[in-house]
Amino acid sequence: MKKLSIVIFLITLISSNELFAQTNNESVDNKIEKIIKQLTLKEKLDMCHAQSKFSSKGVARLGIPELWMSDGPHGVRTEIDWDTWSHAGWTNDSCTAFPALTCLAASFNPDLSYKYGKALGEEARYRKKDIILGPGVNIYRTPLNGRNFEYMGEDPYLASKMVVPYIHGVQENGVAACVKHYVLNNQEHWRDHINVELSDRALYEIYLPAFKAAVQEGHVWSLMGAYNQVRGQYCCHNEFLVNKILKKDWEFDGVLVTDWGATHDTKQAALYGLDLEMGTGTDGLTSSLKNAYDNYFMANPLLKMVESGEINESVIDEKVERILRLMFRTNMNKTRPFGSMNSQQHFDVAREIAQEGIVLLKNKNKFFPIDPEKVQTIAVIGENATKMMSLGGGSSELKTIHEISPLEGIQKRFKNATILHAMGYASGPSVYGKVIDSKLNADSLKNEAIKIAAKADIVLFVGGLNKNHHQDCEGDDRKSFSLPFGQDDLLSEILKVNKNTAVVLVSGNAVKMPWVNQVKGIVQTWYLGSESGNALADVLSGDVNPSGKLPFSFPVKLEDNAAHSFGEISYPGDGTKQEYKEDILVGYRWFDTKKIKPLYAFGFGLSYSEFDMTKASVNKKEYKSGDVISVSCEMKNTGKVKGKEVIQVYVNDVKSSVLRPLKELKAFKKVSLNSGESKTVNIEIPVNKLAFYDDVKKDWKLEPGQFKLMLGTSSKNISKTIIIEVE
Ligand code: BGC
Repeated sequence: MKKLSIVIFLITLISSNELFAQTNNESVDNKIEKIIKQLTLKEKLDMCHAQSKFSSKGVARLGIPELWMSDGPHGVRTEIDWDTWSHAGWTNDSCTAFPALTCLAASFNPDLSYKYGKALGEEARYRKKDIILGPGVNIYRTPLNGRNFEYMGEDPYLASKMVVPYIHGVQENGVAACVKHYVLNNQEHWRDHINVELSDRALYEIYLPAFKAAVQEGHVWSLMGAYNQVRGQYCCHNEFLVNKILKKDWEFDGVLVTDWGATHDTKQAALYGLDLEMGTGTDGLTSSLKNAYDNYFMANPLLKMVESGEINESVIDEKVERILRLMFRTNMNKTRPFGSMNSQQHFDVAREIAQEGIVLLKNKNKFFPIDPEKVQTIAVIGENATKMMSLGGGSSELKTIHEISPLEGIQKRFKNATILHAMGYASGPSVYGKVIDSKLNADSLKNEAIKIAAKADIVLFVGGLNKNHHQDCEGDDRKSFSLPFGQDDLLSEILKVNKNTAVVLVSGNAVKMPWVNQVKGIVQTWYLGSESGNALADVLSGDVNPSGKLPFSFPVKLEDNAAHSFGEISYPGDGTKQEYKEDILVGYRWFDTKKIKPLYAFGFGLSYSEFDMTKASVNKKEYKSGDVISVSCEMKNTGKVKGKEVIQVYVNDVKSSVLRPLKELKAFKKVSLNSGESKTVNIEIPVNKLAFYDDVKKDWKLEPGQFKLMLGTSSKNISKTIIIEVE
């Protein structure tokens, strides 16, 4: 018996050594083929589902490693228990918290997106993660969606441009990005089952482009399926979305991972494109039954189907092939770098992105910047002045080495001024998905705030939403468009005693602003991560000139938003299904086309400088399909300080056989200009990008005729219009 096991051991050793030795110069495809031949069916299936909350099995006898994953997308998440959602209690898992993806999108700066991905990938690599679960590119459809802060706004072009460099940056580290949630997970309410119905045009023109760019331009190595259903089938095993669009049309060669617990059926999972099943709610995850992971849809149940001949083993081989390919790109790539964590460079990247993503929405009588040498007393009021926002929010929660709060940042930068602080209001904690009222006395918090407001030269009200349940948080949506915890009321009281009040809005979503005309300034800061307070103070003090632009529209009232204007069947649905009645008119496409004035428009953001656009032109007036339109203009910084401006090019099809939005973003470029400096800005637009999706022909269609190119610095602020002709 002993002899036999020694022989088996030696054979295994030889074959495992051979596996790697012989294959050095071979193509990865050959290597994969050879490995698959050596695997038992059980070993193959083990690779297709979880072995713990965030890992899946390798093949130990052959030296094939386990795959380790982590959230994502704003930093590398704290370690989670093997079988439960509890924190594992490690002490070496604090990370750099990068700004939320809404902030990244607001920077309108793809170079920063690359830096973001690279730094995050380095942290993931150092923490021995093979897949980082992000970024998210679900389109901003309603301001109530609890997870908008994790996404890149309402415009498919902006999201496409920003997602690609992030993926490149991450994957250079030999770590796979995992773009999520494919697709139409645009609300958290009922996310586990709601069935989305929408037109092909809305699907192809609005909701798919960022995923397509991630696959075809980003060459992303994995994608995460969404929780919800689309046209009657769950997204993680959806014949149309996964087999046809993702794997056939786009030729995605990576791994489709489920969202955690988003698999629902063994046969569909096998046949409709799922490669890796995670987080399924079998007994083992709650009461730790032995071998719980064997009960996953793609474990024993699938084993039985293959053994009985109901499913062909080649179906499993194809999944394993994809998983092995991902492994050769990540944990079986012997040349991948080692990564790094919490370096000063990473914190600098986080700060730079935060600085460029902050959006100045209002600046009456040049309220900002506040001169640190002149201001005497600042009252900083609001719970968000001190609340740690890298915590909470669901799976994107982070344990960070440090998070500089807005108050700390202001205290540090305005050290010669007297800084008064009052909480003003208090949110209650959320415990297991329930919101509990705060035990603090609302009246005394308010009185304290009013007292310090009356004494100060200026008031900075640092409020907004937070990462609790029913706020900017995974698992459900916001219940109201208004600011929570009595903030509107508090602000109106503060304004009675001090007119010199500005609002610093910490949120990942648009909110109702009944006080918009009374306050002197509004700064939209998103969730900025480790360097929050520093970046905020950089902008408030004028050390940095703001250049962020809104990646989504702020409606005056909720009913102005397209999805909401069609009532419950459109949002949140009837409990079973929902219909995207606004069709392609999402965000500014709706506001512009329907002539509804937004409170703040997509692409809008002020600067401490002024810019002037002149000499807008195109290389020619007539184009054919396949041509590239070269647009150029001259931008001049006519203000007194250095700054950055984003030139945005929107397009309109003047006469079309179908409804087309009044404006669609087709290009943008951010330029940096010293005071008085001019630069020629060149922008290219492939003519084919002017096409619409023809849902009769099931293909893109470019109709001849006139197109209007609109150059501006927001979707509402168009300075130059050029007409071109497409043959
Ligand atoms: C979220 C995913 C996340 C996963 C793992 C799910 O609930 O929807 O975005 O990556 O959990 O934490």
